[in-house]
Amino acid sequence: MSRKVLVIGSGGREHAIVRQLALSEQEPSIFCAPGNPGTSKLATNVDLDIMASEAVVEFCKTNQIDLVIIGPEDPLIAGLADRLHKADFNVFGPGAMGARLEGDKEFSKEVLASAGVPTARYQAFSSSHAALKHLDTVSLPVVIKACGAAQGKGVAVCSNRNEAEEFIRACLDDQQFGVAGLRILMEECLFGPELSILIVTDGQDYCLLVPSRDHKRIGEGNTGPNTGGMGAFAPVKLAPSMYTEIDSRIVLPVLAELRRRDIPYRGVLYVGLMLTESGPQVLEFNCRFGDPETQVVLPLLRTDFLEMCYQTAIGKLGDFLQGIHEVEDVVPLDWPGAGASSWMRQAVVVVGASDGYPGQYIKGRPIDLPKELGDDRWVIHAGTAVSEDGAVVTNGGRVLGAVGTGMTLELAKDVAYNLLEKTHFEGLIYRRDIGESGGM
Ligand SMILES: Nc1ncnc2c1ncn2[C@@H]1O[C@H](COP(=O)(O)OP(=O)(O)O)[C@@H](O)[C@H]1O
Ligand SMILES: [Mg+2]
Repeated sequence: MSRKVLVIGSGGREHAIVRQLALSEQEPSIFCAPGNPGTSKLATNVDLDIMASEAVVEFCKTNQIDLVIIGPEDPLIAGLADRLHKADFNVFGPGAMGARLEGDKEFSKEVLASAGVPTARYQAFSSSHAALKHLDTVSLPVVIKACGAAQGKGVAVCSNRNEAEEFIRACLDDQQFGVAGLRILMEECLFGPELSILIVTDGQDYCLLVPSRDHKRIGEGNTGPNTGGMGAFAPVKLAPSMYTEIDSRIVLPVLAELRRRDIPYRGVLYVGLMLTESGPQVLEFNCRFGDPETQVVLPLLRTDFLEMCYQTAIGKLGDFLQGIHEVEDVVPLDWPGAGASSWMRQAVVVVGASDGYPGQYIKGRPIDLPKELGDDRWVIHAGTAVSEDGAVVTNGGRVLGAVGTGMTLELAKDVAYNLLEKTHFEGLIYRRDIGESGGM
């Protein structure tokens, strides 16, 4: 009997996860809660409140779900995986203890410190008085972060004192981020290109997926305010020694530290890195697949994604990895689990957003989707909905992602942009420089 999989979430990341599961030769039955118009073509969308863990457990019982993949951070941080474990379900995604690496930036700093992993120096504050006093002693620019999960809006890289003071007051005095901002970190500013690494791990064994880079700013040339991500590409090519360095100085010690603290971890650990002049340093952890990085990392898998997730969830990732045969074209050969991905192809996703985003924007505009899709090009839905008359309409800031793949970055970009040029809705905006080296 084919496996039954439930994917939790409704964004571009979840559409990409569902798409990759649907490619499995095992022909799984896929459910997505709550899903979006893109997932509805490949899975059965289920109208569930993903923060209501009892309802999710009930659904899994009724439908005899074999595997639950939790996409977004909020249910992970709230302990949905723990609740599902207790009811004996296989879950891809850490419990609340592991998810704290994302949900509490001060905790993640403590883990990094005890693991001896390079990261920016910092101090934590709960009072604006103490924070402002400390501000006088640090050099600018300085980075201020809300410790809690703030939907990607809780970080300010401040080039002058005013900006820093404003952000400190916004967090601690005005409580603009609610409880997430009641404690802040003041961090040394690092410089260099950024890189995302997705580690698939069952706590013992691990597999590193191809490095990717997303483009956070709304404007070309990395200008304007931060967004959830306007595009991404993978793999990012690194010097061979960098792979070894990331593995030995960051990944291995972090996973060992989690084991030392008895923190079980089955799922994806996303490591945000900055490649500084003195080597790679950790900016942050996420406890789940990145969005939009997932849209370009998963299509480069050359193994069965469903099997990888399932074996991870049951703690048998090591057996799964033994079955992966490494091929000569795999670069670098010594990156753990390198053979799971294709390193010869490139993937690019360009996000089509609503004008006004990341500020105010209009919803409900009809979308004209491209007709010519293929193995090297497809559209990932993020903020879309189906209107009463059955048309696909815009329903968010980041509306969709055009994905292109090819043997070179240039080819993959051409394919993705070509697809986006055939996509129409009123107010469609996108960056034209996704995939350019150094783009962030
Ligand atoms: N110490 C730092 N030095 C320089 N830039 C930083 C630093 N920390 C974060 N940033 C910048 O801010 C962005 C967001 O920070 P991050 O820690 O990833 O938080 P989140 O993704 O939760 O908003 C990073 O992608 C990076 O561009
Ligand atoms: Mg981040």
